[in-house]
Amino acid sequence: MPPAITIERHILETQRAYPGATGDFSALLYDIAFAAKIISSSVNKAGLVDIMGLTGDENVQGELVQKLDELANNTIYKALDHTGRLCCMASEENEGIIEIPQRFKCGKYVLAFDPLDGSSNIDANVSIGTIFSIFHKVSSAERGTLEDCLQQGRKQVAGGYIIYGSSTMMVYTAGNGVHGFTLDPSIGEFLLSHPNIKTPQRGNIYSCNEGNYAKWENGIQKYIDYVKTPDKASGRPYKSRYIGSLVADFHRNLLYGGIFLYPPDKSNPLGKLRLLYEANPLAFIVEQAGGAASDGQQDILDKTARELHERTPLYIGSYEDVRDIESFLNGTRS
Ligand code: AHG
Ligand code: MN
Ligand code: MN
Repeated sequence: MPPAITIERHILETQRAYPGATGDFSALLYDIAFAAKIISSSVNKAGLVDIMGLTGDENVQGELVQKLDELANNTIYKALDHTGRLCCMASEENEGIIEIPQRFKCGKYVLAFDPLDGSSNIDANVSIGTIFSIFHKVSSAERGTLEDCLQQGRKQVAGGYIIYGSSTMMVYTAGNGVHGFTLDPSIGEFLLSHPNIKTPQRGNIYSCNEGNYAKWENGIQKYIDYVKTPDKASGRPYKSRYIGSLVADFHRNLLYGGIFLYPPDKSNPLGKLRLLYEANPLAFIVEQAGGAASDGQQDILDKTARELHERTPLYIGSYEDVRDIESFLNGTRS
């Protein structure tokens, strides 16, 4: 039996390929993995202890926040605020940038995160996740600024997610492939289980909230009609799979092949999902796995956020499926 490779060992061995590395980046990834273990343990206990249910607050998106959102948000903040590796953070749950307290050293990285994704599913024991994105600090300010957070997706140093499913997994890329680790709860370690993940060039799954069909623009409707039209030679009809947790829907499609769509509609002209915390990191992962991510006009990674909570339409998954939907949107197919 080959030796189990812990996430720590994997990160350290990858770092050796960069002789100039200070170790800060490796430590940062490891800190995130540590926070993920704490969140995972809380998620697993959610049905047992009274931490479920609504707090009655509303987060900056105007959506109901559940207690686990706050717990996950605080866990990540507390695991990282004092490490001297970050200059600031940005979270889906905080309106402005999160400063590093003055008493702590300021570092050279920026962390943007969605602490708990799919939180409306918590009470039903459905898979949820955490999504994160790391940039270099680029501003000349002493501590992190908005400029450090609002960078083009292609400038990401790393992107990743943790899925709290039938097991807990952490999947990340730092630009040298996509690697997945499964948490072994008996020893409390993430072990390399999915080295160098590649996604099929074409899938046969489409994932969207089809209840919004009537509100979508014509190109999207035509695409959905197309994937449902039987054509044995092209593998259609596609299967419809939608959990309503982006991380879980994305993870399944990454492994099996397929496309996830969250289009704009009349009430949400930019869709629902956020560029910094959701689209960017998953786009980095999917490109590294051989897939694609688009907003319908351009690759997600070519976009530069103008504000922290900017939303974007998202079409993400197998390369050919993403190019197909673009062609329906730009009218080259109908
Ligand atoms: P969050 O829980 O972080 O607010 O994200 C929820 C998102 C995402 O996980 C999912 O893909 C999408 O909302 C589902 O939206 P609909 O309920 O509109 O389908
Ligand atoms: Mn989310
Ligand atoms: Mn969230």
